[in-house]
Amino acid sequence: MRETCSLAAEVMGVIAPHVKPGVSTLELNDICHNYIIEKGAYPSPLNYHGFPKSICTSLNEVICHGIPHKKDVLKDGDILNIDITTYLNKFHGDTNKTFLVGNVSPEVEKLVDITYQCLFEGIKQVRPGGFIGDIGAVIQELAHDNGYSVVEEYCGHGIGREFHEEPQVVHVGKRGTGAEMKPGMTFTIEPMINLGQRHCKLLKDNWTVITKDGKYSAQFEHTMLVTEDGVDVLTLRPEEKNHDSN
Ligand code: MF3
Ligand code: CO
Ligand code: CO
Repeated sequence: MRETCSLAAEVMGVIAPHVKPGVSTLELNDICHNYIIEKGAYPSPLNYHGFPKSICTSLNEVICHGIPHKKDVLKDGDILNIDITTYLNKFHGDTNKTFLVGNVSPEVEKLVDITYQCLFEGIKQVRPGGFIGDIGAVIQELAHDNGYSVVEEYCGHGIGREFHEEPQVVHVGKRGTGAEMKPGMTFTIEPMINLGQRHCKLLKDNWTVITKDGKYSAQFEHTMLVTEDGVDVLTLRPEEKNHDSN
């Protein structure tokens, strides 16, 4: 898990300088795909239940599972979530990040910032003896305090030999409910936070999930390990080691 998660984090670092106005999401896909293959790994999304590409690219009002396309060219003011999952030595590692493209409006920049904070508030709840519901409770509170909504149809998940395993990590909830966290468990937290209402719509491609009201949505994801005394965030990037940048 440490090796595959480090690779996923590394790929996020590799793609970051390419996320600029003028680049297509397909070009970003190809760079990630080639890098992952070069490292002797496999991009988990490719052919996963028929997903056609190697990463997910979710632009603006796309909540998650956006499909890279040559016609989706980034422009100033966009936000783009890149979700990278690697399969290395039989284990999956999963991480995503929402990038600001050029100059983004202050309103949208705040959405992205608070979403990142939601992920880390969730991570702070992870410890043996805690409950999965503790994670959703703090995420929900921070999002709602800022006037945002939390997507409920898609959630974090156990991860390891399979891409998606038990337990489901819902991003809303009540403290003290759900599965108990135990040392050795690995799962993701990946809150999707909307500027407007929480409701989703699935596009005809059967993958792309957008907000029903067309307002922007942001997301961040890490894979973590429950340790004997807390949490180890396995997909953490070097620039995140002090926890307050994105
Ligand atoms: N990486 C996504 C997650 O965080 C899942 C993508 S599934 C795909 O769980 F098929 F769309 F790639
Ligand atoms: Co995930
Ligand atoms: Co993911």
